Amino acid sequence: MEASYEAFFLPDINNVMDVNIINLFEFPIYHVRNFAPEHRETCASNITNQYKERAYYIDNNPIKGEYWRRISLYDDKGVHAHTKGLDGIQGIPEWSIVKKQIKDHAIDYLHSFTDLKNTVLLKSLKEDWTDYSWWSCYAENDDYPWHHHANMFFTSCWFIQHDEKHAPLSFRSPLHSLINGWLPGDSKLKNEVVIKPEQGDLLIWPGWLEHEVPGPDAYIFYNKMEQGANKWQYDPDTIKYDQLRITLTCNLGKLHDSLTTHTREAI
Ligand SMILES: [Fe+2]
Repeated sequence: MEASYEAFFLPDINNVMDVNIINLFEFPIYHVRNFAPEHRETCASNITNQYKERAYYIDNNPIKGEYWRRISLYDDKGVHAHTKGLDGIQGIPEWSIVKKQIKDHAIDYLHSFTDLKNTVLLKSLKEDWTDYSWWSCYAENDDYPWHHHANMFFTSCWFIQHDEKHAPLSFRSPLHSLINGWLPGDSKLKNEVVIKPEQGDLLIWPGWLEHEVPGPDAYIFYNKMEQGANKWQYDPDTIKYDQLRITLTCNLGKLHDSLTTHTREAI
């Protein structure tokens, strides 16, 4: 007679010894509530106006034009601002002030990782930290698949216009590929965390940390899967945004790329 699966594979070891699982290596990301409240509404309104002005993007390119229109980096032909040597955010007067405030928070976050006391470096970052930034306007069918900005030091996202119906932001553990390549079967370990931001939130994380704005695919493919329990998306049959989901992404460059020649010589 065959032994049951439980009897063969799962002896009741808990009765004979003290068994614990110890979770290692939590990782901090930075979260500011109600960031730059004095500039948020003006930024939302200026970005909404720019998005509306870009409606002509879809005249000649109904599909690709819609993608280009929703991210400020692209012109109506899909040419990236950085290939033209332009800042990805144009015509937002508050941007220079807000950028400084983001850098101040990023330096605060940096201090949580390191005991760095190099005032020359810190002063240089405060004044000259290179940024690559853009705004995004998403409707209910928009998403952005898993990606990272590993060529940057920090990535940050300010949720300028955000409500309950809007897609959240998901993060994926850097151990994800390693664990899934190592284990037989599907991993039951938590490898994704969904953050549901509130309007005004500013998040900052290392550029190498993978993230996505989940879309209808997340609902369709992952909603019912145990290992996708952290996935999130409203049912695409019923969700309709009342207003655009507006975010501003500010990537901050690798530290030594942001140093002036004078500063490099000084440290
Ligand atoms: Fe991103």
